Amino acid sequence: MSKKLVAYFSASGVTAQKAKALAEETGADLYEIKPETPYSPADIKWTNPLARCNREWIKKTKPALADTNAKVEDYDTIFLTFPIWYYTAPLIIKSFLAAYNFDGKKIVLFATSGGSDFGKTAKNLQAEVPGASILEGAMLNGVTSFQEYSNL
Ligand SMILES: Cc1cc2nc3c(=O)[nH]c(=O)nc-3n(C[C@H](O)[C@H](O)[C@H](O)COP(=O)(O)O)c2cc1C
Repeated sequence: MSKKLVAYFSASGVTAQKAKALAEETGADLYEIKPETPYSPADIKWTNPLARCNREWIKKTKPALADTNAKVEDYDTIFLTFPIWYYTAPLIIKSFLAAYNFDGKKIVLFATSGGSDFGKTAKNLQAEVPGASILEGAMLNGVTSFQEYSNL
């Protein structure tokens, strides 16, 4: 079986819960992708045009990471797990992909959302890491069992 890491970002806790369960049930290690400056509730209030999330999105700002301690080189497969923002992955996911060498790795995407699907997320992220292979895993909204992802 491949050695797996669940690397997740979560701004308000929903994805964090799913990522922890995913790691536990699939026997993967767990790593939290954190911004250097954490997102406050005001920062992710997307209905406010001036909120940090909207400012970053408009400028395509990749937020700085709090650390680069994920031992990516130790794993074959990365379960990259995040909330859908603006119909795709949050920009911090691009910060994460830029911070490590993913050549030869399999990256499987998992996400939560308010209803949106992956859309073009896999294609968008593949462009950041041409040496890796990015696959859609699953939207985790409403999913409570993760056993089926053990063999990915
Ligand atoms: C800035 C921002 C943009 C979002 N954009 C979308 C979207 O395009 N489609 C969608 O279904 N949900 C969207 N959401 C909702 C989140 O994907 C959803 O609430 C997610 O489960 C939150 O996960 P978290 O608690 O781990 O941060 C957005 C949330 C935020 C904060």
